[in-house]
Amino acid sequence: MSKERITFATKLGVVAATVGSAVGLGNIWRFPYETGQNGGGAFLLVYIACVLLLGIPVMTTEFSIGRASRSDANGAFKKLSPGTKWHYVGFLGIFASVFILGYYMVVAGWTAEYLYQSLTGGLLNKTPEDFRAELTAFTQSDYRPLIWVYLFILFNFLIISRGVQKGIEKASNFLMPLLFLIMLVFCIRSLFLHGAPEGLQYLFNPDFSKITPQVVLRAMGQAFFSMSLGMGILLTYGSYFRKNTSLVKTAGTVSLLDMVVAVLAGVIIFPAVFSFGISPSQGPELVFVTLPNIFGKMPAPVLWSSLFFLLLSVAALTSTISLCEVAVAFFIEQMKFTRRKATLLLTSIVFVLSTLCSLSSGSLSGVSIFGKNIFDFCDYISANILLPVSALLITVYAGWVLDRRILKDQLNNGGTLRVWYMRPLLFCIRYLAPVVITLIFLSGLGMF
Ligand code: PFF
Repeated sequence: MSKERITFATKLGVVAATVGSAVGLGNIWRFPYETGQNGGGAFLLVYIACVLLLGIPVMTTEFSIGRASRSDANGAFKKLSPGTKWHYVGFLGIFASVFILGYYMVVAGWTAEYLYQSLTGGLLNKTPEDFRAELTAFTQSDYRPLIWVYLFILFNFLIISRGVQKGIEKASNFLMPLLFLIMLVFCIRSLFLHGAPEGLQYLFNPDFSKITPQVVLRAMGQAFFSMSLGMGILLTYGSYFRKNTSLVKTAGTVSLLDMVVAVLAGVIIFPAVFSFGISPSQGPELVFVTLPNIFGKMPAPVLWSSLFFLLLSVAALTSTISLCEVAVAFFIEQMKFTRRKATLLLTSIVFVLSTLCSLSSGSLSGVSIFGKNIFDFCDYISANILLPVSALLITVYAGWVLDRRILKDQLNNGGTLRVWYMRPLLFCIRYLAPVVITLIFLSGLGMF
């Protein structure tokens, strides 16, 4: 397996690959609707606090465990703490990633449909009501979304079965900055819409009465999801880092870029929401209904909307690849499958799960699990339950079980880096993160 694992050759490669995993539908699709459904500015504030106080320490911890062990998510714990049960934490990550893939592929499929519609002029000359009605018709039809979902799964299969190849890394080096730039252009356009003051007020003006334990849990879930935490992804990537890479600096850069893309998405979407009379709490369809309205108000709408949905599809692809890789690496290393067989097994599981998720807006809409349809169930259980639990266990492991010298060694690169923030960081990893994650988790579930 170690022969098949990629190694990052440059510092840019480290950041680009990690940002490629972090920046995806979570930032542009999930963040705005979670914000819309959970109180706007208040949610944003709690989200930023979660990124800084919990996300960055957890990310640094995952990198440290990965680089110290130079192993996959499951094998890392076996190597660092042989004979213990800690490797089950790796399983949790694998579970979470498969659940996320189930519905992530569906939304990735929607972006592909919108790319197709953009290219063929299907998004031109429509009213906000038309966009809403068409999206509903599309998601509720059984076969149309599935075609795109299967196409997306096929793409993943082709790329993963060949190994995480340089093409995708190189492509993200180029496409991620491009996505950033295009988003800036949309931001500027959005700021000139007549609903801009209201939209920005909604996003940046916190109403503290909106902060409930549920909102805090969802903000933490969003932060972990968006930063790709708790799934073993960053642990695996950490194992590819070079000896002289500063883990904390990398975590800081990746988190900052990830947060900026999410906030930019909010700045694009909320002014449009208020300009076109769309409800901010619309839910998962939010981006697909609001954005086409902005494209129509720009010169060369076909070009802009095609470009945007192309980049969104690519951002989704770089994230799904990293998600697939967790389970595939596990099948190869722990179950001794060939890469091809491992990929086939994972894609079959994802195939079934995403078919169910996709149909849950159509003919399976009547099926509910704990009061949620299959799509929402997969989202809720992975982001709000599996990720926090897994992140909690990772910090407890790093803070209390792992030999302190190993952790410190990773944080200061064997004593070669001057790390003034060692104490506060260790405090976050040992005390703050485990306690706060537990409190948020239990109170969000209504335990007290
Ligand atoms: N962070 C990605 C996003 O925001 O879209 C989603 C994701 C990718 C989650 C990879 C988890 C992961 F391991």
